[in-house]
Amino acid sequence: MAGVVTAVGAAVAAAASLRQFDGCQRVPSSKVCLIPSRVGRSGMTGGVSQRSFGTMRSRSSRRSSSDALKVRAEIYIEEAETTSASVDIPKTQQAWLYSEYGPKENLSLGEVPVPELEADQVLIKVKAAALNPVDSKRRGGKFEKTDSPLPTVPGYDCAGVVVKVGSAVTKFKVGDEVYGDTSEFCLDGPKQYGTLAQYAAAEEKLLAPKPKNLSFAEAASLPLAVETAYQGLKKAGIKEGDKVFVLGGSGGVGTLAVQLAKQVFKASTVAATANTEKLDFVKSLGADIVLDYKQNKLEELTEKYDVVIDTVGKGEGPKVVKSDGGLVVLTGPVEPPGFRYVIVSNGSDLEELNPYLESGSLKPVIDPKGPFPFSGVTEAYGYLEQGHASGKVVISPID
Ligand SMILES: NC(=O)c1ccc[n+]([C@@H]2O[C@H](COP(=O)([O-])OP(=O)(O)OC[C@H]3O[C@@H](n4cnc5c(N)ncnc54)[C@H](OP(=O)(O)O)[C@@H]3O)[C@@H](O)[C@H]2O)c1
Repeated sequence: MAGVVTAVGAAVAAAASLRQFDGCQRVPSSKVCLIPSRVGRSGMTGGVSQRSFGTMRSRSSRRSSSDALKVRAEIYIEEAETTSASVDIPKTQQAWLYSEYGPKENLSLGEVPVPELEADQVLIKVKAAALNPVDSKRRGGKFEKTDSPLPTVPGYDCAGVVVKVGSAVTKFKVGDEVYGDTSEFCLDGPKQYGTLAQYAAAEEKLLAPKPKNLSFAEAASLPLAVETAYQGLKKAGIKEGDKVFVLGGSGGVGTLAVQLAKQVFKASTVAATANTEKLDFVKSLGADIVLDYKQNKLEELTEKYDVVIDTVGKGEGPKVVKSDGGLVVLTGPVEPPGFRYVIVSNGSDLEELNPYLESGSLKPVIDPKGPFPFSGVTEAYGYLEQGHASGKVVISPID
């Protein structure tokens, strides 16, 4: 499917080496060269169409092979300047999908359309994606009544490069590196075509510029989990100097909740639960106290906490929260004073966190079993679904 982009990329790379493209900018994801003279409303540049590449090939084939690349480059410039302001994008793409609810074995790699854009959306060439437990719950049919139609391409999180922008987009331009959770509401009408694909569409408000110091894999590990922790802690009323308890400090959300509580919200004490082997790991994230959940009975703790975030779902929050404290429950039973909170994807949260990520005070945590290759998505889900990931399960690279 990627014939157009790959072939154009090869011609562009060769042309660049011949120095035919003065002022030409290379888009890292798609290897498509952009022509700055075609800068439009949002700074988007002109590109080459599939039709023009076909023309390039037929014309250059009449020349000797040593001249061919040079000629291709010249024709590329000439024709690119007359095409519309978008880079070449295939009509179909490789993506993981399922057509029936059920286990991970229902997933297969197949060919699906590249999503059409709404006016407020950008098309992302996905470079890396991350898995979340909600993918598995959704595939199991738990949210069938509010789900998007089948077949479904799962995946909420991605990092990649913008290759096309809708007519109302103002924040991003072609070539920008972005990351985000592409479904505003993960349970209610999530995107039918998610991020376990070569391309994904998302409203610009759901995205943020990728922190410059992070790889695509690191950035992709963050959105749904970090936004959940950030929003959840805020909803629970966190403030500087609070004592915070994270039930489940070693998972995707927990590793970020510990760091956010300590580094961003400036909690005075952060306590967390973790398995025996992961106590040091969670301490290394900034937790002051890490309790082995196999050894400790939380009801025996004398200390109570201002804010508790429950990522485990065993209903243990009321044992550690102060009577006037905030208890946000992400999964499982909700007992007073707890409340359920479900993430709403929001690029502005990521933008607020970017300085912490760029300074290194907030760090992405990728489970060491990964990143898994794009061909290994089923295996990666199998690993996540065992329920013992340390940090995030990431899929990278996605070419
Ligand atoms: N409401 C929302 O908006 C929202 C958003 C995101 C996630 N969630 C939900 O929140 C839950 C956590 O998500 P996640 O992405 O963090 O999942 P995850 O990465 O799969 O979490 C796995 C982690 O949970 C730990 N764990 C398992 N049992 C534990 C226990 N009894 N005590 C302490 N830690 C325990 C595991 O540690 P060990 O290996 O040491 O056992 C592992 O590190 C999921 O149910 C997810 O669907 C809800």
